[in-house]
Amino acid sequence: MKSIVHDNFIKNSLKKFILFFDNINLFLQNNNLIWRWFNYIFDYSFFQEYTNVISGIFSYRNDEDNYFEYRRNIHRLEKGLISYPRKDFFASDYIRKTVSLFITLSEKHEKTEMIKWGGEVLNLYFNCIKNYPNEIEILKNSFYKIYRTEKKSNYLPYIPSFKNLINHDQLGDFFKNKKSVRYFNENHVSDKIIKKALNTASLAPSGCNRQTYEYYVFNKKYKFVQEVLNFSAGTKGWGKTVHNCIVLVAKLDAFNHKNSRHAGHVDGILSLSYFILALKSLGVESCLINWVDNPIVEKKLLKKIKAKINDKILITIAIGYPSENSQVAFSSRLESNYISNL
Ligand SMILES: Cc1cc2nc3c(=O)[nH]c(=O)nc-3n(C[C@H](O)[C@H](O)[C@H](O)COP(=O)(O)O)c2cc1C
Repeated sequence: MKSIVHDNFIKNSLKKFILFFDNINLFLQNNNLIWRWFNYIFDYSFFQEYTNVISGIFSYRNDEDNYFEYRRNIHRLEKGLISYPRKDFFASDYIRKTVSLFITLSEKHEKTEMIKWGGEVLNLYFNCIKNYPNEIEILKNSFYKIYRTEKKSNYLPYIPSFKNLINHDQLGDFFKNKKSVRYFNENHVSDKIIKKALNTASLAPSGCNRQTYEYYVFNKKYKFVQEVLNFSAGTKGWGKTVHNCIVLVAKLDAFNHKNSRHAGHVDGILSLSYFILALKSLGVESCLINWVDNPIVEKKLLKKIKAKINDKILITIAIGYPSENSQVAFSSRLESNYISNL
């Protein structure tokens, strides 16, 4: 009993302090310089952001199963292999680490596409390089101790057909037809369909082909979906009809340097465009839901969906099948002269 009273006292005091802090923040917004410095020194949300970035970097360095560096390096090898003219020897600064990651990850991710791809690229690399130092021979031997050459290679650089598979008008019509739908029927979207759309979403370009994002899918329990949606303010008036939702996060443990801290944001949002279009092509409608950065709320949602503390929430997405007579907004767009210098 005593401890409950004590806990409540702490919680209430904390709430009062946050409110007081927010009020000062609001008051100071009238002065550019003072407000800037106030935020610089005191704002918890900025503090939380850089704490998460730094802890993500440490996690990246210490996690032996972190495949982001491996993916990045294999992609760097690919770029070296397709470069014209190709250098006799390249990747001297990262080939050792790449082989070591290949060996470590091969045990845990055996026979996955990621390992097959990396194996074939490394195999091609070792077959192409010339005039390399002796220590590379040792590295090569350790690679071939675990790598067996495939009869047919599937994951190597190639010359594409460059043929247009879809014309611009068809593409434009498809995009125009993709509207934000906000009223859904009760049907759940199957795992199969969502996985199909995710596989298409993964085709989006990503920095160094790392794909530094993750989709947390909730498509089974209406109550849980509603609890997740309650973390965002953007579903007022229509959220109750949502039976499936997704939380998209950027991985902060996917890079080794703070300069790359937004890589996951860019990768994630690019893949999201592919994802919602892929869903549309499968008959599933969607509406993006704004995520307002608030470190306290973010922490709670990450915990709820069992995401990592180093994940950064980018957005939530309502998906499903439209209810009968569900209307969509016209939402006129800016013309090209507004969104470019042309
Ligand atoms: C980052 C982002 C956040 C959004 N947040 C919300 C939201 O919180 N609530 C909502 O009803 N729609 C939201 N939308 C949907 C936009 O309102 C919608 O995409 C825009 O008005 C264009 O309309 P259309 O998608 O129907 O063509 C969001 C869209 C984006 C890209």
